[in-house]
Amino acid sequence: MLLIDGKSVAREVRESLAEEIARARGGRPPGLAVFLVGDDPASAVYVAGKERACRETGIRSTAFRLPRETPQRELLERIAACNRDDAVDGILVQLPLPAHLDTLACILAIDPAKDVDGFHPENVGRLSLGLPCLPPCTPAGVVELMRRYDLPPAGKLAVVAGRSNIVGKPLATMLAANGPYGNATVTVCHSRTPNLAEECRRADFLFLAMGRPGSVTADMVKPGAVVFDVGITRTPEGLKGDADFESLRDKVRALTPVPGGVGPMTIAMLLRNTVRSWSMRCGKG
Ligand code: GUN
Repeated sequence: MLLIDGKSVAREVRESLAEEIARARGGRPPGLAVFLVGDDPASAVYVAGKERACRETGIRSTAFRLPRETPQRELLERIAACNRDDAVDGILVQLPLPAHLDTLACILAIDPAKDVDGFHPENVGRLSLGLPCLPPCTPAGVVELMRRYDLPPAGKLAVVAGRSNIVGKPLATMLAANGPYGNATVTVCHSRTPNLAEECRRADFLFLAMGRPGSVTADMVKPGAVVFDVGITRTPEGLKGDADFESLRDKVRALTPVPGGVGPMTIAMLLRNTVRSWSMRCGKG
């Protein structure tokens, strides 16, 4: 079984971005603005990880840690200020936001050219039309792993379990696209799918993004399938994926572990999007 080592690939991506930034001596470094509203502990951990990754890569990150009662108007004004700031190439609003804040309004407030999460409807629409865009980080990380491990899904049956706006939906779009690491025949499964096990068993490429830890067992996969486990849940025993890893490992061709699989790629793709936006803005793109 091929164990897909996302941690190593993410490190390679980060090193090559660091070199690209170092080559541009003299100019300003790439800048990322991160908004963290409230005190969700998981979000605080994610934001700290993003800041550390920026620091190690040579990206100047600025975190705005705002109290949970921050009014909508203030958040929108701060985002608008980052849109106008020429030293900011990327803007990220860590989700979930406190309930009184309108998530869509915040995403819409971000300049699409600085939307390094790829959540703005303009980027979602461009992705769906096959136009150049800032792609969402987690699905882009999965595609990058397929590229690095030479596992093209073209002509294969792909099943995506989960239909979130952040992972399942855009991943299905990328897999069905007429382009590199696309051209799969894609089925999207969700909570109302009558027989998830049956659908999964048909998959040559299986993408798990449900957030149901350990729920996909060996009887649900085709022998020799390629499995990307994108479902990451925090449990008392640590991070856990949707796959029952031990039961799948002797049956599949390739599998991503949790942790150390797709997770580290998400941050690497965030850095890549930020550097891409920076090189466009500084006329190097
Ligand atoms: N919350 C969970 N995942 C993400 C992500 O990729 N980006 C943002 N902004 N918030 C998240």
